[in-house]
Amino acid sequence: MKVGAWSEEKHVALSRYIDSARKARAKWGYASFIDLFAGPGRVLNRDSKIISDGGVLSAWRMSQQGGAPFNEIFIGDVDTESVFACEKRLVAAGASVRTLVGSAAKTVDEVLAALPKGLHFAFLDPFSIEHLDFEIIRKLSSRSNIDILIHFSVMDVQRNIGGDFKLSSSRLDAAAPGWRANLNLDGVPKHEQVNAYLQYWESLVSNLTTMQVAQNKPLFVNMNRGPLYRLIHLSRHPLAQKLWNTAAMPSSPQQLLPGF
Ligand SMILES: C[S@@+](CC[C@H](N)C(=O)[O-])C[C@H]1O[C@@H](n2cnc3c(N)ncnc32)[C@H](O)[C@@H]1O
Repeated sequence: MKVGAWSEEKHVALSRYIDSARKARAKWGYASFIDLFAGPGRVLNRDSKIISDGGVLSAWRMSQQGGAPFNEIFIGDVDTESVFACEKRLVAAGASVRTLVGSAAKTVDEVLAALPKGLHFAFLDPFSIEHLDFEIIRKLSSRSNIDILIHFSVMDVQRNIGGDFKLSSSRLDAAAPGWRANLNLDGVPKHEQVNAYLQYWESLVSNLTTMQVAQNKPLFVNMNRGPLYRLIHLSRHPLAQKLWNTAAMPSSPQQLLPGF
């Protein structure tokens, strides 16, 4: 999978968090990692041509180092070839893997039906916000001991929000149902419109999942400093929030401080 440099920054933040949550994982008899948009498990930096691990492979290897590896990894993707390539790579790296083919909106049910009691971590990393159906988050949140890391495409929202606001349906509806009825964007500048949408999405998180959004929501930008996405962490445990807030500190100029 060809990606920009900003994808590696995402994997760095993810791996740091997996590393810092090691002690918490060790206290449980079972810990899972769930990636419903797994991709092939490897990425090619389209500029440097360097090939590296994708999100789930990075997370698995980090969990293995120093103990407390994930007991099971659930991967899903609509692309059959990608998800089986990912499975092969994870198994070769020593992971115990359960593989599902299909849209995340469907595989989430299969994962939840198969998930034992334990500590769970879900990584939701779709290409576009259109696939970040809020139902996926709501369903995952039914597990009390889960935290969720979400790739939230600011760029998609920014591109579509103005044009879609007055339409009868929008690419932004699945991620934040009801946004058009609940936001008044008339006269609101474009960058503030994105923040208004995000705030509305956060209100759905508090009202429908009882999970908390961590304070640190790092914004990743492209070469021209154009906003791409935020990484948003949801949990119920103050320790998980604290660990994420530290893991998500910017490690390069590619990533800007929260609040940009
Ligand atoms: C951004 S890539 C995943 C990258 C991967 N998480 C990583 O860090 O290496 C998004 C993946 O989602 C898959 N995809 C697109 N729409 C989907 C959907 N509705 N449900 C599940 N997977 C989907 C694509 O085939 C693609 O492999």
